[in-house]
Amino acid sequence: MHAPGADGTTPAAQLQRIVQAQESKDLLRFITCGSVDDGKSTLIGRLLWEAGALHDDQLATLQADSRRIGTRGGEPDYALLLDGLSAEREQAITIDVAYRHFSTARRRFIVADTPGHERYTRNMVTGASTAALAVVLVDARKGLLPQTRRHSYLVGLLGVRHVVLAVNKMDLVGHDQAVFEDIRLAYAELAGTLGLAAVQAIPVVAVAGDNITSPSKHMPWYSGPTLLQHLESVDVDSGESRQAALRFPVQWVNRPNPDFRGLAGTLASGSVRPGDAVRIVPSGQRSRVARIVSFDGDLAQATAPQSVTLVLEDELDVARGDVICSDAAPAQAASQFQATVVWMDSEPLLRGRSYGMRIGTASAVATVMPIRHRIDIHTLAPVAAERLELNEIGEVEIEVDRRVAFDPYRDNRETGGFILVDRLFHRTVGAGMLHFALRRGDNLHWQNLDVDRAARRQLNGHGSAVVWLTGLSGAGKSTIANLLAARLHALGVRTYVLDGDNVRHGLNKDLGFTAQDRVENIRRVAEVARLMVDAGLVVITALISPFRAERRMARELFAAGEFIEVHVDVPLALAESRDPKGLYRKARSGQLKNFTGIDSPYEAPESPELLLDAGSIPAPDAAERILQRLADAGVLP
Ligand code: ADX
Repeated sequence: MHAPGADGTTPAAQLQRIVQAQESKDLLRFITCGSVDDGKSTLIGRLLWEAGALHDDQLATLQADSRRIGTRGGEPDYALLLDGLSAEREQAITIDVAYRHFSTARRRFIVADTPGHERYTRNMVTGASTAALAVVLVDARKGLLPQTRRHSYLVGLLGVRHVVLAVNKMDLVGHDQAVFEDIRLAYAELAGTLGLAAVQAIPVVAVAGDNITSPSKHMPWYSGPTLLQHLESVDVDSGESRQAALRFPVQWVNRPNPDFRGLAGTLASGSVRPGDAVRIVPSGQRSRVARIVSFDGDLAQATAPQSVTLVLEDELDVARGDVICSDAAPAQAASQFQATVVWMDSEPLLRGRSYGMRIGTASAVATVMPIRHRIDIHTLAPVAAERLELNEIGEVEIEVDRRVAFDPYRDNRETGGFILVDRLFHRTVGAGMLHFALRRGDNLHWQNLDVDRAARRQLNGHGSAVVWLTGLSGAGKSTIANLLAARLHALGVRTYVLDGDNVRHGLNKDLGFTAQDRVENIRRVAEVARLMVDAGLVVITALISPFRAERRMARELFAAGEFIEVHVDVPLALAESRDPKGLYRKARSGQLKNFTGIDSPYEAPESPELLLDAGSIPAPDAAERILQRLADAGVLP
């Protein structure tokens, strides 16, 4: 089909060579931001067109395509696009960011084009998380807008170190130097407060191409680089990630035979050579690198972002999620953090709810507690908040269920950034940046006491456990709890009933029925139940406990077999017809808000220990069934 080329190779082979040459060229990822009518698309179009014209058109067609995250198209270099928020890739959540590839003789570029509207904060965060540079567009006629502040804030937050202030539509202000200077100075002040280091201001006319790829005839007073010159030459890779201390998050342990134990992963930062002293974080174990193994044999050195397998001199207990660090400058380890979270889910982030956390290759369970404040994206001022809605940004404290290795995000984007995922559906719900460790828990120890749970159980002559009743208001939870407690008491079993209505008269009298208050209600009752089970009692809780996430959280406080979840199941219509407290009537008439089953959800258990069809089983029989279950579990005398 294709004739061999003059040099004896096929067009396919030529193309292959061009692609290889391209790949070895240095890559700049950048993001454009600004309001819709600041001329963002015109500017990107201009750059692409000019770059395409400058270059081999085979390549231009090959690379100047736009991509959308979340389409899971199996595209070959899809992986390249989103490593900052890599779990997103796995979960393929749909975030609209178009990535356009183009290249010039000097550089390859990937530009993330994100929608400008404030509801697209998460898109911008996604785009900026891997960008080394941001082009902030400003309309010369309008100067700095709230949007400019907002985007610049996000750019700073996400650690994008280089900013180009492109003052566009200079033709509409008569190419006036004074207008440009005013905007430049105003932005310099903003950049100062936001901690943006390197700002290059360029006056441009995107439609006409002035100062985009060639100097403008109309603005002889400007002697700086054109936008493309700047993008081609700006030294974004000041070797930061390579010069930074070694961080090697372990992806998996490769043990093909007893004589070889390799730790596979990708260098997040720094470099490593055989003989280097390393420290494993969080365990603190120390060793030296014996070998660096790659597909091309052993290496004398590996540098970020290379993927290799490290063999250590000592056989240590290392697992996925551990980070191998330079011994001289190791990462920190902690389980409580101050962090910034950008919320990306339509369900709000609730204080006290737990989420899956992915940081580097480590997975953990994280709870936000408390939300210190949310950032008003218009004024950038802190505002009190109990929850974060979609696209909101909050300063939070995070509790993690175990110690993880980290660096402050400002020092290392790879080891300081994390994502939060929904624990049931595994979708990405938030992205965040760790600032520093909180030491609140460091000086607290668990006091071991001589009279322990086993001793108390022995004295009681029975075991202890929690029977967790869940179901709609009016399902009969309290009635069943009452009957069950009486039956147990008669059998000589020490019990306690934690009833929602009762607990809300004291311990939880500060809580109402919003989702976040229910989360806290359940958390406190679960903790109290835990103490009581430790005290040797059979605890019966009677709470609606409408959310799966919190019932799961409660379950995780107990040992296997100690938590017996019982779904007291009735159809809503039946509970409503019973309406013992007249609350359904009030809820239907709008006098009572957030009523479970009416305008607040009830998430039925998926696999409770017991499912009681309380519409057909009389309460005494229901109590008997639970009693049987406790007997089977060996709790009864
Ligand atoms: S939970 O959702 O946080 O588990 P809990 O069981 O403590 O709720 O309290 C539920 C009881 O509070 C109900 O049985 C009902 O008597 C009363 N109540 C008052 N307002 C509401 C409401 N908006 N939704 C549900 N129950 C309410």
